[in-house]
Amino acid sequence: MSYTDKMLRDDALKGKVIVVTGGGSGLGKAMTKYFLELGANVAITSRDLDKLKNTASELEVATGGTCLPLQCDVRHYDQVENMLQSVLKAFGKVDVLLNNAAGNFISPTERLSANAFDTVIDIVLKGTKNCTLAFGKHWIDTKQKSSTVLNIVTTYAWTGSAYVVPSATAKAGVLAMTRSLAVEWAKYGIRTNAIAPGPFPTKGAWDRLMPGDLAEKFDMAKKVPLQRVGDHQELANLAAYMVSDFSAYINGEVVVIDGGEWLKGAGQFNMLEAIPEELWDQLEMMIKAKKNK
Ligand code: COA
Repeated sequence: MSYTDKMLRDDALKGKVIVVTGGGSGLGKAMTKYFLELGANVAITSRDLDKLKNTASELEVATGGTCLPLQCDVRHYDQVENMLQSVLKAFGKVDVLLNNAAGNFISPTERLSANAFDTVIDIVLKGTKNCTLAFGKHWIDTKQKSSTVLNIVTTYAWTGSAYVVPSATAKAGVLAMTRSLAVEWAKYGIRTNAIAPGPFPTKGAWDRLMPGDLAEKFDMAKKVPLQRVGDHQELANLAAYMVSDFSAYINGEVVVIDGGEWLKGAGQFNMLEAIPEELWDQLEMMIKAKKNK
């Protein structure tokens, strides 16, 4: 067995209807593929309908599942409501909302226009709010017994991060929404959780966040105690578990999947990793010698 293997049993998501925002490419596509393999019907949404259609037919051929492409800019509540109605028309119900759509770019904050800052906040925070509110209202109105919201956040939602300030600000809001609704909406049978992925390379994110030769200059794997980046299947495994009935008692949780990356940046003495074994011998002798004086 390896972390690149598929984790859940066949048909683990059979009968579920899942909406993945930003499902046309990258990590959204990887998670969608696995959901289809596990028997779910999946609607994927983004602004780019052509891209969605290509992805949907590619995944249907690869998995034998049903994947519905729906154009929707999550920044606009009316488009989200229309998207929800299209899902209900096609599948008769919806069980899971995966808020995966995001927008991000690196920049010194003082260089950003007000509109640039708003654009990221609008996609990430307002988009997640729009989808969560529309789906939540529907689930509560129709008294659906069990449903799940899964939000993709990031570890800098709680540490903050320089040079991606709009994204950090928005993801912190999504994290607060996750924990708040986990309590408030549990009585309606709605579970609300989040996943905080570390570096999982995708073309879209890497082109935006590591443009030019930055990817060579800053090897992301070196920041990770496990010394590698993530594999898409291991994120898909976690997401499938989090939306499945196997995780029925997990609510309000944010699961970090980053090989220990954020903690490496946080621990006060973690830089001592750089000290070689011989130097530890010398240091130990010095410390002991001082103690015996
Ligand atoms: N640095 C600084 N400002 C930037 C920028 C950058 N790299 N990219 C865009 N902007 C600014 C634009 O100049 C514009 O501001 P202005 O009107 O004051 O000039 C504002 O952001 C909106 O840009 P626009 O291209 O019109 O927005 P959009 O809605 O078409 O695109 C983005 C949204 C910018 C987030 C785009 O990167 C995108 O669509 N990303 C989606 C996928 C994604 O980012 N996923 C996350 C992967 S980590």
